Amino acid sequence: MKTGAPWHEPQPHGDHAQFAADLHAALCRSPKAISPKYFYDEAGSRLFERICDLPEYYPTRTELALLQAHAADMAAQLGPQVQLVEYGAGALRKVRRLLDRMPRDGVQFVPVDISGPHLLAACSDLAADYPGLAIQPLVADFTRPHALPPCPAGSRRVGFFPGSSIGNFTPAEADAFLRLAAAELAGGGLLIGIDLEKDPSLLHAAYNDAAGVTAAFNLNLLARARRELGAEFPADGFEHLAFYNPAYRRVEMHLRARRPLLLHLGDTAYAFDEGETLHTEHSHKYTVSGFQAMAARAGFAPGKAWTDQNGWFALLWLEAVGPTPGR
Ligand code: AVI
Repeated sequence: MKTGAPWHEPQPHGDHAQFAADLHAALCRSPKAISPKYFYDEAGSRLFERICDLPEYYPTRTELALLQAHAADMAAQLGPQVQLVEYGAGALRKVRRLLDRMPRDGVQFVPVDISGPHLLAACSDLAADYPGLAIQPLVADFTRPHALPPCPAGSRRVGFFPGSSIGNFTPAEADAFLRLAAAELAGGGLLIGIDLEKDPSLLHAAYNDAAGVTAAFNLNLLARARRELGAEFPADGFEHLAFYNPAYRRVEMHLRARRPLLLHLGDTAYAFDEGETLHTEHSHKYTVSGFQAMAARAGFAPGKAWTDQNGWFALLWLEAVGPTPGR
């Protein structure tokens, strides 16, 4: 096994004080809104894995099928001698489809994730299945400036950001991430998964599954606040709300108060009117050309694009060439 010792950066969301401060700020805002990163504690990550297998939730299986069908072509775009950086690495399921098509001794794999224990567990599984693969995990928040291990001599650096997680960023955050990635991948490129615009009824079903797993995932954010921060609120006070907002081309998730209520956090009580929401997530849907234009402003030239036959999901190859002047 050639797994290097992980490089560590501070872990903001392992930290209750940060969660408390961000939740206070979220509840003071008008409208109330918090970052979706707080979904992903142990329970939330397990619920998200269940979402990925739901019949209504098409993105995961569609992206996996695209990777399966086109991995050889995608690997050819990445190149034979690379440092492959996976942003928000998670369980390292999808990258296996690429690694299967890449020369084992030509790749240094750098999965970057904020959750150290998960990252290391996933890396040791990967190392067992891919003996000889050089793995250099980095524990860091990839949306902030971070120091990647030096690129091995003779290799170019390429990125992999599957899962359409960029859809959970605001447009400003997506732009900032793409600029950061374009700078650190200069001379290489980025393979990224994006969820595409489609019939809103399909989107509605994907975020309002019949089994109620997405509702549980959403509600877990407040359950987590109760567990970790001692927040108090009526047990049945909030309900899951998810809908497509065509003005912003995004699915929005909210926690909606069923009646007027108080949420207590520390010494403060935050009032919710009946129907008032805490906005917990947006999930932007793109067109291929719209995303490529945004990526071009940030420093990427569009390359190949792979989409499924329904046109629901896309994986895009983007060459890191430097930002478009004047943007
Ligand atoms: C992680 N992310 C891409 C998912 C999405 O579809 O926006 C998170 C999710 N939220 C509800 N269901 C899944």
